Amino acid sequence: MDKQFKRYLVTSALPYANGPVHIGHLAGVYVPSDIYVRYLRLKGRDVLSVCGSDEHGVPITLKARKEGVTPQDIVDRYHEIIKSSFERLGMSFDIYSRTTSPMHNVTASDFFRKLYDEGKFIEKSSMQYYDQEAQTFLADRYIVGTCPKCGAEGAYGDQCEKCGSTLSPDELLDPHSAVSGSVPVKRETKHWYLPLDQYEAFLREWILEGHKEWKSNVYGQCKSWLDGGLQPRAVSRDLDWGIPVPVEGADGKVLYVWFDAPIGYISATKELTPDWEKYWKDPETKLVHFIGKDNIVFHCIVFPSMLKAHGDYILPENVPANEFLNLEGRKISTSKNYAVWLHEYLEDFPGKEDVLRYVLCANAPETKDNDFTWKDFQNRNNNELVAVLGNFVNRALVLTQKYYEGRVPACGELSDFDRETIAELSEIKPRLEAAIESYRFREALKEAMNYARIGNKYLADSEPWKVVKTDPARVETILNIALQITADIAVAVEPFMPFTSAKILRMLNIGKFDWERLGALDLVPAGHVIAQPELLFEKIDDAAIDKQLDKLQKATEALLAAEAAQHIEPQKDSVSFDDFSRMDIRISTVLAAERVPKTKKLLKLTVDTGIDTREIVSGIAEYFTPEELVGKQVPVLVNLEPRDLKGITSRGMILMAEDADGKLRLLQPGEKVASGSIVG
Ligand code: MF3
Ligand code: ZN
Repeated sequence: MDKQFKRYLVTSALPYANGPVHIGHLAGVYVPSDIYVRYLRLKGRDVLSVCGSDEHGVPITLKARKEGVTPQDIVDRYHEIIKSSFERLGMSFDIYSRTTSPMHNVTASDFFRKLYDEGKFIEKSSMQYYDQEAQTFLADRYIVGTCPKCGAEGAYGDQCEKCGSTLSPDELLDPHSAVSGSVPVKRETKHWYLPLDQYEAFLREWILEGHKEWKSNVYGQCKSWLDGGLQPRAVSRDLDWGIPVPVEGADGKVLYVWFDAPIGYISATKELTPDWEKYWKDPETKLVHFIGKDNIVFHCIVFPSMLKAHGDYILPENVPANEFLNLEGRKISTSKNYAVWLHEYLEDFPGKEDVLRYVLCANAPETKDNDFTWKDFQNRNNNELVAVLGNFVNRALVLTQKYYEGRVPACGELSDFDRETIAELSEIKPRLEAAIESYRFREALKEAMNYARIGNKYLADSEPWKVVKTDPARVETILNIALQITADIAVAVEPFMPFTSAKILRMLNIGKFDWERLGALDLVPAGHVIAQPELLFEKIDDAAIDKQLDKLQKATEALLAAEAAQHIEPQKDSVSFDDFSRMDIRISTVLAAERVPKTKKLLKLTVDTGIDTREIVSGIAEYFTPEELVGKQVPVLVNLEPRDLKGITSRGMILMAEDADGKLRLLQPGEKVASGSIVG
């Protein structure tokens, strides 16, 4: 059993104030963290939820330079957008601060200063790229060149966005400065380093021995960092945007953004309450960091080492990092505008905040990367929220209005079916709690929805609308129970869908009640008068979905064009007409398709080539389901030498189009043709 803590401090990764927040951030970090803290509050726990904007770092200065404004302009703009869109989504942070706040400046400086005074840093000089034209040292991000791994141009000195490789500026081919375009030179500069290698033993013990319960993706990443050996990390940078290094002889140097940002959690707590120390210094506080997987090393290795070096602070008890959310099968990209932006969603779908929260939780990338699709969004809204949750609540309330003018009927003698239903309901709470407390929010949401599922079944099976004609007293009991379930729903879904919860409570005309009363049979007492029902959810039609898909399509086209421009395969050597005409390509019709057992990529297709019916094994299972291929017409190179694959003789090759990112598309004739039609 979990150790009991006196209070909780929950942090959510501070979003960079260089762009708005998108669904990937929400599903990975903010929706889960809000569910967690709302649940704890319902349980009556002492909990603080802190967040704020991460306003330092090179990308912000780059963006400012590009737009010809100051970094402060950039962070002011995005801080407002992020803060207000979070609010509108119902994020219930106790404080949403920012790292340009004066409190943070002092807190981060003092933190550095203490470590500095106690000799916890190493001072080291090294050769760094320097832009002679702009007279400034260049952060890794400021150096652009050609990626040594994939050949893409415009790769940064720390990372290639095209292939995702982590790079160092020295690896870049043809490096030049993003500031002036000139070729940088190397110049000596001094920085302070946190000797992470000295914290290895502590980290191994604390994480690898002490926190085996962490999510396996988190634990695994920590283990591989630790097994790889830790190096000292620079905690300062040559930059004119950030918190100045608070020591003598550090002109032009600021704290590295990943040094100051996590301290932002402390600064925010200080701003929030004079009582902040007990949240940060008392081991009876449970500190939990909600983050995305790209933040694991900073929250599990670097920040804990900083906290340890400082000595006054507690360490996180858990770091439930999520994986990434993709969008319609592609990676979300802030810089390429391929995303669903929260502030735009809120404009496009007013009043549907909870739908987004619901879908993102139901699909949260908890154990692996996951995909958001608009179709799934529509289906979940129409088939789950409207058809199950909305439908049940509406029926219970409308029937109560209809039969009893809104006065809650008394519960009479229970039938066996009533008792079974009540028993089934009572099993939900412990499962729901266990799921939330172990950060399995998808499962938790399913459990919360079970109240509605069971309620729906209860009404469907007990048919009060029929029974009312023969046994009106029985209907009183049925509706009494249905109203208790409605109240259960209001509280059980509150962490996930706070607006819906409030609406149900309003319609029931009752206040929020304690989590512990979930399942009680007198949540809405007999004789109490409920309010007029309104619909909780409405169907989302195809037009609304198509509009979103169109929007994405435009971004995809721009994205693909940019990729293709970067990445055009050079033309191959010439072939003679003779050589070409030796290839026999025929339009063939797919008659059957199935997965090749024990393989991830292979499909076995049975095709009608016009010449014969034959089998072809094709490595396309990641892109197509067998069902969607059957009936399709595709070009097949029919005279390719047969090849044995997994015990199947493959006779031919399906020809397809391959995107710059390797995604396959079918090539189909413009209209249906006879199988065997020759391509040439
Ligand atoms: N801004 C970072 C990101 O979005 C997260 C910072 S979390 C903090 O990836 F702990 F450093 F604040
Ligand atoms: Zn690359």
